[in-house]
Amino acid sequence: MNVIVGISGGIAAYKVPALVRLLCDAGHAVRCVATSHALEFVTRTTLQTVSGQRVYCALFDTGNEYSTEHIALKDWCDAVIVAPATANIIGKMACGIGDDALSTLLLSVQDKRVFVCPAMNTAMWCNKAVQRNISLLQTAGVTLIGPDSGHLACGTTGAGRMAQPEAIADALEAHCSPVTDKLPLEGKKVLVTAGPTYERIDPVRYIGNFSSGKMGVAIADAIAAAGAEVELVAGPTHERSTSARITLHTVESARQMYELATRLFPGCDAAILAAAVADYRPESYIPEKLKRQDSEVLTLRLVRNPDILATLGGSKRDDQTLVGFALETNDEMRHAREKMERKNLDYIVLNSLRDDGAGFGVDTNKVTIIHRNGSTVATPLLSKREVARRIVDHCLITPQKTAP
Ligand code: PMT
Repeated sequence: MNVIVGISGGIAAYKVPALVRLLCDAGHAVRCVATSHALEFVTRTTLQTVSGQRVYCALFDTGNEYSTEHIALKDWCDAVIVAPATANIIGKMACGIGDDALSTLLLSVQDKRVFVCPAMNTAMWCNKAVQRNISLLQTAGVTLIGPDSGHLACGTTGAGRMAQPEAIADALEAHCSPVTDKLPLEGKKVLVTAGPTYERIDPVRYIGNFSSGKMGVAIADAIAAAGAEVELVAGPTHERSTSARITLHTVESARQMYELATRLFPGCDAAILAAAVADYRPESYIPEKLKRQDSEVLTLRLVRNPDILATLGGSKRDDQTLVGFALETNDEMRHAREKMERKNLDYIVLNSLRDDGAGFGVDTNKVTIIHRNGSTVATPLLSKREVARRIVDHCLITPQKTAP
């Protein structure tokens, strides 16, 4: 393959020669395009030596082979890896800005595989604008590799470390296998629940929650991208998916979600239940708008809704995989493991409302995926689309063995 490594200005650029060497050893032809800031961290001579090619940096370099180098390079390449990807280059990519050789090239490579390997300080990575830009890139089909969590050059510990060169090279191989290859979940059907449920009190009021549906819809999209048909049962949400592999069933209440999910599950290979289902509903619906009362206190009697996940767990066949979510505020691991046991799940995805940037409404999440064999995998704070991809990969594409 012809691979362009785009290097922006961060300390992780010191790892790029190792990445270029790995790619060359794997038989790829590599050309480096660096920003001027990148060349503060890694020299042009080093990149030129490991790639065996001249390094592109300035748009109007007199040494350029063509006057429109960015177009010539995009025609030459099969894939582009941006490593390290600073918040700045991610922002330019998301907004369509081209003001140097690398950003201009990235503007022109619409039809090629693009991989972005973020590297920055944790606070910058968690910044809402950066996360919004990452979501925009993922929606546009860019593949995110990392970032990892760990010790950072600024002396702190957290998410934001560039993925290791070996992981980047592996991701390139995994994602660029010939297009004739079957998608990993082709032929499968998966049920997904998403969003909140609304439990009507009277014609104008309901009991609901803050779920936006972003997490569940991202999961449906990730499953569809992996080739499976998806039955998406969604409570009230503005989130929409455009994949033709997704059949959307919109519902309002927990009981409607229950009816559909229990009917669809027997025909599915797996289910991931990300909806925030109301555990209780008003005992009776008041057909006329409830008027303001004289008394200071109004009492509503609530009755329990059916537990969809537990019902599916009770009827689950050996050939089906069932994944639940747990949204916790305290003693998270214990509560999540109890839910997994009680509802007979294969996996439970734990999110804690104590984690900044995780849970309801936001575009990011941070989860721990727990397998019934006891093993756990924790993600750093990532876009919900990337979290969804990791859940689908871990639970459905490369499922864990039952024994630890
Ligand atoms: O929609 P977003 O704004 O993107 O937010 C995503 C999210 C925070 C809603 C999502 O990541 C999440 O955590 N969903 C589960 C929320 C929840 O209701 O958790 P729980 O611990 O109360 O429920 C445990 C599991 O049982 C969940 O899989 C839930 O779908 C399921 N359940 C709960 C009650 C019920 N009556 N039926 C169910 O199926």
